Amino acid sequence: MNQYIGIDLGTSAVKLLLVNEDGVIAGEQSRGYDVVYPREGWSEQSPADWWDAVADGMRALLAGTDAKRVKGLAVAGQMHGLVTLDADDNVIRPAILWNDGRTQRQTDRLNTEIGKAQLSAWTANIAFAGFTAPKLLWMRENEPENFERIAKIMLPKDYIVYKLTGEHATDCSDASGTLFFDVKNRRWSREMTDVCRIRESQLPRVCESEAPVGTLLPEIAARFGLSPDTVVAAGAGDNAAAAVGTGTVTDGACNISLGTSGTVFIASDTFTVDPANALHSFDHAGGKYHLMGCILSAASCNKWFCEDILGRTDFGAVQAEIDAERLGRNSVMFLPYLMGERSPVNDADARGAFVGLSAGASRADLMQAVLEGVAFALRDCLEVAWAQGVDVRRSTVCGGGAKSDLWLRILADVTGLTLVKPVTEQGPGYGAAMLAMTATGAYASVADCAAAIVRTGEVIAPDPAVKALYDEKFGIYKRIYPALKMLEKK
Ligand code: XUL
Repeated sequence: MNQYIGIDLGTSAVKLLLVNEDGVIAGEQSRGYDVVYPREGWSEQSPADWWDAVADGMRALLAGTDAKRVKGLAVAGQMHGLVTLDADDNVIRPAILWNDGRTQRQTDRLNTEIGKAQLSAWTANIAFAGFTAPKLLWMRENEPENFERIAKIMLPKDYIVYKLTGEHATDCSDASGTLFFDVKNRRWSREMTDVCRIRESQLPRVCESEAPVGTLLPEIAARFGLSPDTVVAAGAGDNAAAAVGTGTVTDGACNISLGTSGTVFIASDTFTVDPANALHSFDHAGGKYHLMGCILSAASCNKWFCEDILGRTDFGAVQAEIDAERLGRNSVMFLPYLMGERSPVNDADARGAFVGLSAGASRADLMQAVLEGVAFALRDCLEVAWAQGVDVRRSTVCGGGAKSDLWLRILADVTGLTLVKPVTEQGPGYGAAMLAMTATGAYASVADCAAAIVRTGEVIAPDPAVKALYDEKFGIYKRIYPALKMLEKK
């Protein structure tokens, strides 16, 4: 049977899947790498580390298999990161990542000097510190010698596609998060490239996620034992790929990802913009669109609290100390803004907090507050969608955090959504493999592929009594950030 490779270039690790044409996962590998925090609120990674991890993972993924059965490959990746190449395609500086908050000044300037209405008219979005355009402005102002050397600007997964194919290409979903892309018309925005003082020739060619961008370079094919005819699809931003992988491809369907970031992804057949621009308006695979809220710290809050604060790596055991009877009754609350916050507050300088501590507060109360705080932050994004009349009541879930049944129970009770677990939990990597299947013609469209192979499993319905308790807590949660904002250093 033909096989396909889906690669998910995440923030903490790259995950690689070998998937049969019927959707069965035949193999998987993961390789971790570090995030470097050169200063508080900054985050960077080396594209060479990504490539080393991908190459090592590919070797292990294909070991002992008949690699010639692989017909296609696609990469999904962490969005917004700024990767710059010089005229010889050498990486100029470490990539500045999606959760890096160094660009608040450039972001504020874009939103005030050009203005939110104009930015939204050109790109369907306003500036957020994590987006690529403010990073480019930061580089121009702070590293002019590096800025002058830029021959190509790429997003993280595009660098891997370049290493595999030699092609400089991106896809509409990932390009949407640059703020120099015209989301409605699916092309680079001339106005915004002028603002950033870059030329279109410095940008990769834009394709639909499921479009083939080329085939493997002969030396790459030989290195992994793959056929040089292996088709490489443009791929997608990790959230669009996760949506594909969870079957979130029909109008109004929702997927929530509990990864390093947390996202609420609402697929749409038509182009729509949140009037307040609190939600991003981006392109989806298959020529479609989506609205998305992104919180910068989701499963990373759990990792931080367990590993860095408690010194524990057995997350399940730490969570097991939480008594299910205490859901909705915790007096400790947690604001998950460890890296600042994107949706809906747009404040890179915001920080996290525990509030409501008493002498009786236990470790389990704090752990519960962390899980609840992330769920409240996701509800904060959903509230924006609901206020616009977007009728989301049900959502698939994916990401590392979705492996915790307790966290899913809390999320269902806090949001009131009925949550659905896909049988295959590797959202972005699975979605990438599906894009590769579509690119080779194994399925006629992304939607056909999803209908044929995505299967859903367990359903978690909200408990109305606990939901009512959380509704009250959400009112308190909403008052924490404005109160703390008053304490921020000016
Ligand atoms: C989305 C975003 C994050 C990253 C994480 O806008 O910034 O979800 O894509 O990889």
